[in-house]
Amino acid sequence: MPVALLMLSAIPLLAGAFRVVQLMGGPELIPADDRFAGFPLPLLVHVVGACLFLVVGAFQFVPRFRRHHPGWHRRAGRVLAVAGLLVAGSALWMTLLYAAKPGTGSLLYVLRLVFASAMAMCLVLGITAIRRRDVVGHRAWMIRAYAIGLAAGTQAFTGGFGEALFGKGALEGDLAMGSAWFINLAVAEWLIRRQDGHGRRSRSVRASHNAVPAGASS
Ligand code: HEM
Repeated sequence: MPVALLMLSAIPLLAGAFRVVQLMGGPELIPADDRFAGFPLPLLVHVVGACLFLVVGAFQFVPRFRRHHPGWHRRAGRVLAVAGLLVAGSALWMTLLYAAKPGTGSLLYVLRLVFASAMAMCLVLGITAIRRRDVVGHRAWMIRAYAIGLAAGTQAFTGGFGEALFGKGALEGDLAMGSAWFINLAVAEWLIRRQDGHGRRSRSVRASHNAVPAGASS
């Protein structure tokens, strides 16, 4: 699981690293973008937050790691909550602050506002759930938040396929990029329901094992 998540994260994380190197005066490993040069702070916050969120977050999904290192899960979770809120906050900030990237349209603008807000909301609901000791709710909201963030990786594929299939128009591009959030959330909902099903089944198996058979009492 973490390997697959890290592989999907690799393209946007590399792009982010290249952009930061360039903004710090290093070599141009990707085409320069003057929109960021004047005030790069939100982009830097976004890239650093995204790196922490995707890389550390990938390990939160390993059940054995969670069980054997609960202290690590809690400490990393606090870092992740802050990093995730920084990603969502800076995404809103950049959407509102920077001129739109040429070739993108208002659909992507609206989707970014919606999903950045949704990511922040999922994180807040995940944090409040675990404070109430609602582990099932916590897991579900955190999976949703991670899925929204990880759409940056899925967009590398949907963007490429979309352009190959439907051409380079702004609406086509926006639909291709936007579809990544819906795909990731569909997978997240499937995972959440599958895990809930497993949990319910193993609880009922445990209950039936522990039940005293009728007539077995002394
Ligand atoms: C956590 C995973 C994420 C990663 C790794 C990531 C990565 C990046 C990178 C590398 C850039 C710079 C693009 C460039 O240099 O041209 C960027 C820009 C941006 N990201 Fe993210 N991002 C993530 C999540 C999100 C989310 C969840 C949203 C909103 C829902 C978002 C919205 C934006 C916006 C609005 C920009 C500015 C784009 C522009 O004006 O061209 N990002 N992101």
